[in-house]
Amino acid sequence: MLLLGWWWIPRNHCTSAATTSSVFGENLFYQLLAVFWSTFKFLAAMAGELSDAPIVLITGCSAGGLGESLALAFHAKGCRVFATSRTLSSMEQLRVAGIDTFELDVTKTESIVAARERVEGATGGKLDILVNNAGQSYPYATSDASMDKVRALFDVNFFGALEMVQAFLPLLLVSSDARIVQIGSLSGIMPTPFGVSYNTSKAALQSLSDTLRVELAPFNIKVVHIVLGNVQTPITKPWHRLPQDSLYLPIKDIYQSRRIENFMDNAHQRAPVARDIVDEALKREPRAWWWGGKNSLIIWFIYSFLPRRCLDWVLSRHFGLTKLSELRSHQRKTL
Ligand SMILES: NC(=O)c1ccc[n+]([C@@H]2O[C@H](COP(=O)([O-])OP(=O)(O)OC[C@H]3O[C@@H](n4cnc5c(N)ncnc54)[C@H](OP(=O)(O)O)[C@@H]3O)[C@@H](O)[C@H]2O)c1
Repeated sequence: MLLLGWWWIPRNHCTSAATTSSVFGENLFYQLLAVFWSTFKFLAAMAGELSDAPIVLITGCSAGGLGESLALAFHAKGCRVFATSRTLSSMEQLRVAGIDTFELDVTKTESIVAARERVEGATGGKLDILVNNAGQSYPYATSDASMDKVRALFDVNFFGALEMVQAFLPLLLVSSDARIVQIGSLSGIMPTPFGVSYNTSKAALQSLSDTLRVELAPFNIKVVHIVLGNVQTPITKPWHRLPQDSLYLPIKDIYQSRRIENFMDNAHQRAPVARDIVDEALKREPRAWWWGGKNSLIIWFIYSFLPRRCLDWVLSRHFGLTKLSELRSHQRKTL
């Protein structure tokens, strides 16, 4: 390193012999300092007292999903990653990549407690970054949704995240600079039709993020809420169908094509999105809300600057509700 510094500095920064010798002198000092610092860090890390690699726990890391990409992206940044999902077999690629994987169902308190004990045991009781990524979708209108399914979805998307924060807070408090990353959705701020349970669970998650950001600031725990547009993952599978008694049967073809089968058209690739989220999470001062994924820029603009009903108009036209109004008004006239 010293030799490299001796060769590099004069060729790239110095124009005269006098400057060369002065910068070379300074450079030698900084190089010595760097060697001393690296040696100190190495020895300290060996002694288990100081670690530069943040410890990260991620929920919902099954193959093909955003969680898997987040785990790989944190791992690539040198973090120590604990990747979790409901089944070990769904994280085989992560295990092969050298990432610690174990089962965690965020709707089961005993599973969360077991996960905390495992992380505590492996890290001496510390966690730097908790990523609440586990989530499900359920694309049905308010009139068609089964209440059992709505509650089950809230158990994953909202209560699961809240319970994870409660359970892992003692470990995050041990970190000198902890973060909670919440994977929210554009649907948390926009009235995407046929998604009442998903939209409202993500809106609740967003409110949780905002509340945590304020409540946990005194403890230097930073909270980043990810306002995410569509990213290519299996979240919309298996494909759903309108129930036979749905109010929306007259536009069932539009529902099936735009809301279900083509909903993910042009969705962003998950790996680059995950890398951007990881970059944000690792920043010294991450943003409160980070926007990304398909349509995030345009929705950010509409949400920030245009009247609320602007999104109603766009979504109603796209998902066939304007057409349904027209059909109904035509029906009334012909009766
Ligand atoms: N993809 C998008 O376009 C998009 C857009 C906005 C926000 N998001 C959000 O991004 C996050 C990741 O979703 P994704 O798109 O990557 O979908 P995904 O591939 O279906 O991943 C969802 C993950 O959550 C897990 N999960 C479901 N229920 C769970 C539970 N009870 N306990 C623990 N884990 C559970 C799933 O595990 P199993 O494999 O066991 O089901 C899976 O690993 C979700 O929060 C989603 O709402 C996605």
